This record gives sequence, structure tokens and C-alpha cells, in this order.
Amino acid sequence: MTKYNFTRVLDRTDASSAKNDQNLVKQFLGLNYYDDTIPLWVADMDFECAPAISRALESRAKQGTLGYTMLTSAYQESIINWYGRRHNMKIEPEWIVFSNGTVSAIRNVIRAFTNEGDGVIIQPPVYYPFEVQVKDTNRKVIHNHLIRDDANTYSIDIADFEKKCQDPNNKLFIYCNPHNPTGNIWPEEVTQQLLTICAENDVLFFSDEIHADLLRAGKSFTSALNLEHSDKTIIATAVNKTFNVAGLHITNLVISNDELKQKLNKYTGSIGMSPFSLDATIAAYNEEEEWVTEVNQVIDTNLEMMREFIAAHIPKIRFSVPDATYLAWLDFSAFGIEEKELMELIANEAHLILERGSLFGEHGNGFIRINVACPTEILKEALERLEKLLNSM
Ligand SMILES: Cc1ncc(COP(=O)(O)O)c(C=O)c1O
Repeated sequence: MTKYNFTRVLDRTDASSAKNDQNLVKQFLGLNYYDDTIPLWVADMDFECAPAISRALESRAKQGTLGYTMLTSAYQESIINWYGRRHNMKIEPEWIVFSNGTVSAIRNVIRAFTNEGDGVIIQPPVYYPFEVQVKDTNRKVIHNHLIRDDANTYSIDIADFEKKCQDPNNKLFIYCNPHNPTGNIWPEEVTQQLLTICAENDVLFFSDEIHADLLRAGKSFTSALNLEHSDKTIIATAVNKTFNVAGLHITNLVISNDELKQKLNKYTGSIGMSPFSLDATIAAYNEEEEWVTEVNQVIDTNLEMMREFIAAHIPKIRFSVPDATYLAWLDFSAFGIEEKELMELIANEAHLILERGSLFGEHGNGFIRINVACPTEILKEALERLEKLLNSM
């Protein structure tokens, strides 16, 4: 018996939701959106947020105190307890730095700790806003491409990474663990190697760990905080991702080095938190752990269903269940269809909005990312539409 209902279709009508916004889909992905289109793209879930979060927001709205808000000790404790309990991380209250979202944190970190023209290392195919932030701030994007073997297993090119860190122009590394879009959890020893290389070469290590609570059954995750790291290490965690409240923009950075924190504060300001973010965080971390347990079970079910469906009905797609995240990274290259044409066919014939692999980097060409965090029946319908389209070609 489950406590929450993850079968109900989320009503996005009049919600100003990005995921089903026809104009955005057209503008950003170049795809058509129809009345019966199923959007399985941008990384938010098709599930209502946990009830304690709604209650906390209602209560704050009723109270009507919506002025400038301070980060409280109850807020800090909710984070410290969550990461202590779930990830064995020992976070001190003063290490917690609120940020209005992870992408904005990355942009501020780039601005605070690098200069125009400096190199920032990323590992494509990777969450594409990393590259956008680097370019938009006039820094140089340095690619340490992931290695993909014949079985489509990804690994990190440590030798190339070290070479790039040894270049004194490269000042910052943005790590993604668990990794979007491949869903990999990088082995602990690999993260340790990367941390050591950054420490030896004075490269700031930004560890985006915002998918760390969305682990597939039986998988475990080790934060960079629990490995040997220099004090030039910043960790990003997010209520946003774990509890599907991306629109509230709640990210917490963990920064143990006070000097780094002060420097970053100059870019973020110190009273940037909304009262809704404060209350939602406390409610989520203190009251809704079971919601996360159950949502992970639904994601496991969906991914396993997807694996079985593809093996039985569309075996030309190559797919393995990821270690973490609710994002599936599927290899469509066997169809031999050029990417733009394939995405348009999927949007126009199957009425599905999926994300083309090349968005995540040129080596993502041939792949498609599918967000599976939706009621199982919806995902099944999407897969049936895909089967009908692909098997008729
Ligand atoms: C790895 C990763 N980092 C950052 C983000 C964006 O986070 P935010 O909405 O907090 O800016 C995402 C969203 O999907 C993501 O997958």
C-alpha cells in the first residue's frame, strides 16, 4: 500500500508550465506540439509535489508575511539532517549557502572565481546549460569528453582531464554526479582521482550532485564531501530536483571555505531567499522522505517497463537502465535517420516531445533523452506510439 498517488495525471492546464508550452517547444526544440502531445522532455516530473510542501506554502500565504527572509537554523538543520541521514554527509550550518537554483549558482560561481577568457572544464554529453553559462559569461568551454565503449557504457577520460587541469588557463571544473543525461553514478575512486587532480592543479571543483536522491534500486552514491578534497570544492544539492519543485528555485550549496563563501556572496547577495523557499525546504526535508522513496519506486518501475518494452518491441533502440536520475538516454543510431528528421517525425507522427542527443554535446548525436517521471500508463502510451512509428518505417 502506498501513501501517495503517482498514477494521477498532473493537470498542467493554466499552470504556465514550461513542459507543455507550445511556443517554448517550438522556439527551443523546433518541434510542433499538438493537443494530445505527451511531453517527456525538460527535467521536471509529472507528479504533484508532496502534500507537506503545499501545506507549508498555503500556510505562509495565509499568514501573509512575505517580506525579506533570513535563512534560519530550522532551515539549516533540515538540510544537515537530510544529508547526514541519507548520504552520511557531515555539513556544518555555516557551510550552507542558499542559491536561486543550480544554474544560477553555476553562473555566479563562474563569475566569482574566474575571469573572462579563463577555461571551464565540462564533460559532454552533459546537461547543456553548463556550456551555455560558460559561453554567456565569456569564459572558454573546455571539453573533457566522456568515453563511450561498444556497449554504450560511459567512462571519464582521466588522462585528458589531467592534461586540461594542468593548463593554468583552466580554473574551474563543473562535475555532474549523478550524471545527466547518461544517468551514471561515477565510481567513488574516479571522483577521488578528479578531486585530487583539481587539488594538485588549483582548479576549483564544482560538484553538481542534485540528482543524488534519485537513485535506482540498489545503487549508492558518495558525495565529493565524503572524499578527500581541497577547500576549493563546492557542492550543489537541490530540493528542486528531489521534490519536483523546480519552479521554486531552491538549491543549497555546501562551501566549507569561508573565503570562497564571502567571495560568492558578493555575486549572490545575502538576503536572496524567498519565504516560500524557506518553508518548502523545511517541510520537504523534515516531513516528506517517504514521498522520495515512493517516487523512486515509480521511476524504477517505469525504467524496467521501458527496458522490457524496448527489448520486446523496438530492439533497434539500445538502452540500459541508468544508475540514477529519471532520465533515459537511448541510442537511436541504428535507425540511420538524421537527427532533425527523426525528432520531427516523433513530434509530428507520434505526438511526443523528446530531447535530441546533440543538445548535450556533439557526441550525443544519435541519442535521445526521455524523461520517465510520469504515471506508468503515460509512459506506456508514449512507448506504444514510438513503436508504431518506428516499426512502420
Ligand atoms: C545536472 C543538473 N544540474 C542543474 C539542473 C538545473 O537545476 P536548477 O533548476 O536548480 O537550475 C538540472 C536540471 O535538470 C540538472 O539536471
